[in-house]
Amino acid sequence: MSARSCLMIVLAAGEGTRMRSEIPKVLHEIGGRSMVGHVVAAARGAGADQLAVVVGPGMGAVAEAVRKLAPGASIFTQVERRGTAHAVLMARTAIEQGAAEVLVLFGDTPLVTPETLDRVRCTLEAGADVAVLGFRTERPTGYGRLLTEGERLVAIREEKDATPAERAVTFCNSGIMGFRGATMLALLDAIGNANAKGEFYLTDAVEIAARRGLTVAAVDGDGREVLGVNDRAQLAECERLFQERRRRAALAAGVTLIAPETVFFAIDTALGRDVVVEPNVVFGPGVVVEAGARIRAFSHLEGARVAEGAIIGPYARLRPGAEIGREAHIGNFVEVKNAVIGDGAKANHLSYIGDARVGAKTNIGAGTITCNYDGYGKYKTEIGAGAFVGSNSSLVAPVRIGDGAYVGSGSVVTHDVPADALAVGRGRQEIREGWARAFRERMKAEKAKG
Ligand code: UD1
Ligand code: MG
Repeated sequence: MSARSCLMIVLAAGEGTRMRSEIPKVLHEIGGRSMVGHVVAAARGAGADQLAVVVGPGMGAVAEAVRKLAPGASIFTQVERRGTAHAVLMARTAIEQGAAEVLVLFGDTPLVTPETLDRVRCTLEAGADVAVLGFRTERPTGYGRLLTEGERLVAIREEKDATPAERAVTFCNSGIMGFRGATMLALLDAIGNANAKGEFYLTDAVEIAARRGLTVAAVDGDGREVLGVNDRAQLAECERLFQERRRRAALAAGVTLIAPETVFFAIDTALGRDVVVEPNVVFGPGVVVEAGARIRAFSHLEGARVAEGAIIGPYARLRPGAEIGREAHIGNFVEVKNAVIGDGAKANHLSYIGDARVGAKTNIGAGTITCNYDGYGKYKTEIGAGAFVGSNSSLVAPVRIGDGAYVGSGSVVTHDVPADALAVGRGRQEIREGWARAFRERMKAEKAKG
């Protein structure tokens, strides 16, 4: 990685009209993280010492999202959208601080990797005054074209200003550009707006630099990293590419995905070695699955930790605060929220375990429900180790069930159960001999009468 000081400027002032949304475009999410969050993370990953983000008026929410990930970032507001060069110049005071390298990123190009940004930085370090991240595509429509003479990059021509011959060029501008700090402002100040859109194009810096005899280089990038999002279809396409990337990374790290194309990741999903993920599993944000655990088909996890060797699902739901112990089993149609499930404990069928602690090796029978909410407050259920909760029990919190205790099936448990005790909290069973037969005969007789 380049060791020189580096400022990265993220442009995010666009209104994103084509998203048809009430929220700013760059706050739409990929893998559960805002697009601008992805870009900020890539910038930090590529060693940015200083971060500046240019937002539009009324985009306080964007500034907030940025500050959450990068508290030291400076936020600039571009009141009138007058083009990408104009937007970059909003951060003039940051550029004047004198970083050796300045990279310009777009807030709506979320898939760029730190490695690629580092290649742009290395090109600057190797002597370029301007470095442009390009990519090759069979569908160049809408992108600026990179015009070369031999090895030299001489200009970038925007679609609207291009001649038919220039439009045939398939080497395109990703939008990401790097500048040597010392020559950058002189280039930007020379950019005018005599073009089809009447905007100040950052891309004109290339032609100006080339004419002044400065060194301009193109870096060959991967089109899948620089897809820009302007509408919901492109958002979905970016999500698809993100998911593909995460699946490949999981496989490479020693995770088995039986049907990779049906497993969905969040940005921070962490799966240990030899984890097996069956088909149709969704990981929301904040999931850690330790080595050797198995996530069976059709499970949905978010904000949860699963310890080594545990088995989750099929059809399980782990919500935030679920902590599943080693070798524990959470089976079909079991929902766990804000609950610690001890090592080797089992809740295999049709349960809700919320705001609870379940001790090691305890068995939670089918249909057990922790009644944790009375419409106003949430209350805790604490179950000890080695306990047995019979099927279809309602545990009315706050309540404690001691180590080794036994709860009879169908109980409504409203009082604490001491260790090793039996609690049966249900109506006594009554037997009436012959009642059913008599009932059937009476009904039959009535039917016969008409
Ligand atoms: C830009 C590039 C084009 C490149 C393409 C890649 C220019 C002139 N053109 O075109 O060569 O192929 O990206 O996607 O740079 N923005 C502001 N303020 C403004 C204008 C833009 O903040 O006044 C921001 C937008 O929010 C966006 C980025 O800059 O994040 C790019 O702007 P956009 O209008 O999408 O440029 P393109 O026409 O796509
Ligand atoms: Mg664009």
